[in-house]
Amino acid sequence: MSSQNFRLGLVLIVVSTVFSGTTLAQGNAEAGQGKVAVCVACHGQSGNESLLPNVPKLGGQSASYLLKQMVEIKSGVRAAPLMNGMLNTLDDQGLADVAAYYASLPAPQGAAEAEKLAIAEPIYKAGIASIGVAACSACHAPNGKGIPEAGYPALSGQDVAYTEMQLKAFRAGERANDDAEIMRTISERLTDAEIAALASYVSGLR
Ligand code: HEC
Ligand code: HEC
Repeated sequence: MSSQNFRLGLVLIVVSTVFSGTTLAQGNAEAGQGKVAVCVACHGQSGNESLLPNVPKLGGQSASYLLKQMVEIKSGVRAAPLMNGMLNTLDDQGLADVAAYYASLPAPQGAAEAEKLAIAEPIYKAGIASIGVAACSACHAPNGKGIPEAGYPALSGQDVAYTEMQLKAFRAGERANDDAEIMRTISERLTDAEIAALASYVSGLR
């Protein structure tokens, strides 16, 4: 091989490494659709059916958040007993494809119970300053759609029992995959009644 060809070869290796890194991060929704047959049993055809209690709705959730959760569920960083083994056949590209697919589906819509509004709305919109609870809306957005670029998930339309369970799991430290302990710090200052009210309230945001 001439030294010029050798150098060209090196450049191509570098370029293809960078390129495959980009494809991994992006994910392909069409390819993802072909990889969710096993998921339908619990998450439903639309991704939003919650066929068992405490199953989260996935449709319209941001791909970056979905990918982070799947990587952490697969590695065991986030304990999710019913998900055990479900992601083992998906490699990094497969997980990114599945994340892109669910992100491309319509988001769920829910309805809050009116009597929960008085407790939940002030906390969601303004936090509880006296005990250092930040406003949920600062990160999850006033309409509950989250901030995908920052990794803040959408909460609107989510299964109420699932949301309640997650807030309690953060509070107990059983879910500990939130960077900088953001959600653990907040939820440990919330009462059961506040958590139940917030779970109902956020499901009705749109
Ligand atoms: C046996 C039922 C079941 C099957 C099958 C299943 N899941 Fe799940 N999934 C769950 C439950 C329950 C949770 C909530 C876990 C928890 O926190 O306890 C969950 C959580 C998730 C989450 C996290 C969502 C969030 O808002 O944080 C993602 C993403 C997910 N599943 C994707 C998938 C994919 C992709 C498949 C198929 C490859 C799949 N699931 C198959 C039951 C299931
Ligand atoms: C400073 C930003 C921030 C604030 C304020 C905040 N959150 Fe979060 N929240 C996050 C992040 C980041 C995650 C994702 C953690 C992870 O990576 O697993 C999250 C996750 C969640 C989840 C889990 C979603 C799912 O699909 O599993 C719920 C529920 C939630 N937050 C509710 C709330 C509520 C209610 C409040 C207000 C009392 C609140 N959050 C305030 C940043 C925030």
